[in-house]
Amino acid sequence: MEIFKSTESEVRVYSRSFPVIFNRAKNAHLFTEDGTPYLDFLAGAGSLNYGHNNDILKKALLEYIENDGVSQGLDMFTTAKHDFMETYRKYILEPRGLDYKMQFTGPTGTNCVEAALKLARKVKGRDTIISFTNGFHGVSLGAVATTGNKHHRGGAGVTLGGVNFMPYCNYLGEHVDTIEAMDKMLVDGSSGIETPAAVIAEAVQGEGGLNVATAEWLQKLEKVCRKHDMLLIIDDIQAGNGRTGQFFSFEQAGIKPDMVTVSKSLSGYGLPMALVLFHRDLDAWAPGEHNGTFRGNNMAFVTARAAIETYWKDESFANEVKQKSEILGTKLQAICDQYGAENFQRKGRGMMQGIACRDGELADDISKQAFKKGLIIETAGPDDEVVKCLMPLTISEEDLTKGLDLLTESVADVMKDDMSQAS
Ligand SMILES: Cc1ncc(COP(=O)(O)O)c(C=O)c1O
Repeated sequence: MEIFKSTESEVRVYSRSFPVIFNRAKNAHLFTEDGTPYLDFLAGAGSLNYGHNNDILKKALLEYIENDGVSQGLDMFTTAKHDFMETYRKYILEPRGLDYKMQFTGPTGTNCVEAALKLARKVKGRDTIISFTNGFHGVSLGAVATTGNKHHRGGAGVTLGGVNFMPYCNYLGEHVDTIEAMDKMLVDGSSGIETPAAVIAEAVQGEGGLNVATAEWLQKLEKVCRKHDMLLIIDDIQAGNGRTGQFFSFEQAGIKPDMVTVSKSLSGYGLPMALVLFHRDLDAWAPGEHNGTFRGNNMAFVTARAAIETYWKDESFANEVKQKSEILGTKLQAICDQYGAENFQRKGRGMMQGIACRDGELADDISKQAFKKGLIIETAGPDDEVVKCLMPLTISEEDLTKGLDLLTESVADVMKDDMSQAS
């Protein structure tokens, strides 16, 4: 432990919540150096939808390395890139009627958000973007300007500009139509809001606390974007790659965004990879205008292709995810029913659900107690008040139930103390 504490920057986060040294990992389990197992309900913050060291993806990767496949190819044409693009187009884009071009950016989520924002501004010749309350889009300067969170914005060190924030779905309560309000502000020449180049939104806000945009809200958002000639960017970095039970989180709304940002579980193996998808008529880039050395992580292309071929050729995996989502929802609802809405409320959609706790302290106590019992689970939301389940989609039903039982027990332990303190 000494080297981490004395030498690693204070910026580290997850190691504070889970202060042990992990050494091995398999599907939904992480193991410490002494072999202690932990059930992983964090899954690389949503970058391990297909689990740790997925055997099928590992085999494809090992074969590629064994055959001296290109590991670093900048943005040159390679067989690995060719095969990924062909597979993604065939099994993901074409069946959904999406005719997108693909831009491979530097391999982090924030980098593909940067690219999308730059391209939108360039295409529309306007400099502002509309983002939403509690949206999280990354921490590089362009992306963090579209991120609502005070803590992350505070780290920027410069004035963050070029972005206007609007209330997200249900931010002002169920009965306020926030898209109508946004439309009114865009129509009114004296609202102080200029027509932006684009609107960026998550269909389910992950870091923002599992806030769900309804299908109706997303459809209205798409219409307002068309009405005011603004591009619609859906940030699917966390909610995509099957997390909500469909490949893209916006599919159930039947919308067709102008741009989609994808990263996290795209490679399927935890290898860094990021992609912007956009309509072909938006491809206004000059060569190298948004570049970066690591824009072609060929090993990630290999595992990403294997993931799509394994899990997305037909509906069976999506159906499995939907079934597990129901187990998750039922167990979380039982916790909420037991302790009442004043303490817990269920939030989220698909396999990104959780419980919004009365306050951040309660959520933190539950996460800490869960860790003591062998469950890794994190918090999200403006006050870190949401205990968020983000287990691999490939988790067995047995481990899913086991983990949720550990969570239920942790809540019971914490609430027992809470109630004894109150009386
Ligand atoms: C929706 C969304 N967008 C962007 C990002 C930024 O991705 P990265 O941390 O890879 O830069 C995240 C990360 O959590 C995210 O959840």
